[in-house]
Amino acid sequence: MSNKKVILVVMDGIGISVTHLGDAVTEANTPTLDRLKKECPYTTLKAHGSAVGLPTDDDMGNSEVGHNALGCGQIYSQGAKLVNESIESGKMFASETWNELVNNVKTKSSTLHFIGLLSDGNVHSNISHLKKMIAKAKEQGAAKVRVHVLLDGRDVPATSAPIYIEDLEKCMAELNDATFDAKIASGGGRMKVTMDRYQADWDMVKLGWETHVKGEGRQFANALEAVETLRNETGAIDQDLPAFVIAENGAPVGKIVDGDSVVLFNFRGDRAIELSMAFDGGDEFTYFDRGAKPDVIYAGMLEYDGDLHIPNKYLVNPPEIKDTMSEVLEKAGLKSYAVSETQKYGHVTYFWNGNRSEKFASEVWKEIPSDKVSFDQRPWMKSAEITDDLIEAIKSEKYDFIRCNFPNGDMVGHTGSMDATIIGVESVDLGLTRLLKVAEEYGYTVLITADHGNADEMLEKNKKGEINVRTAHSLNRVPFYIVSKDKYEIKDADSEKYGLANVAPTVLKIFGIEAPACWEDSMI
Ligand code: 3PG
Ligand code: CO
Repeated sequence: MSNKKVILVVMDGIGISVTHLGDAVTEANTPTLDRLKKECPYTTLKAHGSAVGLPTDDDMGNSEVGHNALGCGQIYSQGAKLVNESIESGKMFASETWNELVNNVKTKSSTLHFIGLLSDGNVHSNISHLKKMIAKAKEQGAAKVRVHVLLDGRDVPATSAPIYIEDLEKCMAELNDATFDAKIASGGGRMKVTMDRYQADWDMVKLGWETHVKGEGRQFANALEAVETLRNETGAIDQDLPAFVIAENGAPVGKIVDGDSVVLFNFRGDRAIELSMAFDGGDEFTYFDRGAKPDVIYAGMLEYDGDLHIPNKYLVNPPEIKDTMSEVLEKAGLKSYAVSETQKYGHVTYFWNGNRSEKFASEVWKEIPSDKVSFDQRPWMKSAEITDDLIEAIKSEKYDFIRCNFPNGDMVGHTGSMDATIIGVESVDLGLTRLLKVAEEYGYTVLITADHGNADEMLEKNKKGEINVRTAHSLNRVPFYIVSKDKYEIKDADSEKYGLANVAPTVLKIFGIEAPACWEDSMI
């Protein structure tokens, strides 16, 4: 083993544009990245589709699968694919949990609820899974289904919610008859209600609980009316629409009450954990006052946290990610440090370590609290504080491997604001400028990459050829730089054969540690 020291920087959401449609990365003033591209070993990495275990190459990458691949040097079939397979093979519907959920509502003549992100973004969920589960529930004798829809517009076009609502309502209308009654019961924009992550803002989950469980909130006759009215009033895109409740004669159509069954149909964990804690938690749950908690059977689509076992019940086994880089480094006696701000803290810790929330004994994790704003209003986010923290970690001389995530390209990119995203990318470049000086002084090799694209494509052409704002990730490749006083050469740098899973093996190569046999190849 060598005595090398390595820093790995994830510039979240900073990819390489092909179309240059709304390319905030190229438009930004990035003197450091520009210089590195000329001076350092450089290649590009595939960060979407099959390179990160998604069903097809039409699937854009995302931070979960990206950080999983970066952190484990392997490509695992991910939630989107595992759920497809479980439904297709019939395994989900034969599972004990599914049968418990359905039998519960049959014996008690109660309601089967589905809560989740309503789109085909395939990042957190897929509407096709929901439709198949509703149809199966009817086939197996459930009589009443209520769906609580979280509007997307972040992994799919910004104002596409009506398309998915209509699709779901058509599916339910075809199933509804004298024996079966399915309806949308409540909803709201995913960045306003229910889908908080990393405990950044529990008030979002509290609002979700009041909306979905208690049926409290502004009432509408149906979800399309809610979206149209709220859009006209607020001008918000889907992800930011306020919460709503569907009611008939002043009464909510689908409160969650004793005896009901509830499925959270999101497969990705970060934004599903807090609601699961609220449903599963006993008296020790103190994040908000749930009032009288209904006695229900609750299940998530997947197990979202394998250490804390959240939720208690789930429908599909998650990928079992083994031999992560953190584990290998720990066994080799090397010390790791991880830092980001709240919005990406779990990405560089929990996703990085294969969806585990518990750190290895010698790892140190640092969270810098994020602002609670829409990030187009603070596009620099905590890039300066993250950089300060990294510099302190370097100077402490305690760590062999330091990893960090600068969220700006992604979090600002998701707002759709081109001007703000340019500032976000520039903030990352400034952070790198400061970081690299100190890293060089202390003898670190710095690897710089991204988990997927976003800021590189802030506009998109729809099927009619019209140009619209794009809030979702891109399918573009991402950069990979090696900044080091040591001489490294990337093999076949122009070949486009590498993906995110080739990064961890490259880190181990620098350390002179043999990678587990199941890992992908090193690039050097
Ligand atoms: C989100 O959860 O914010 C988006 O759906 C995906 O973004 P991320 O994969 O970059 O977190
Ligand atoms: Co993102």
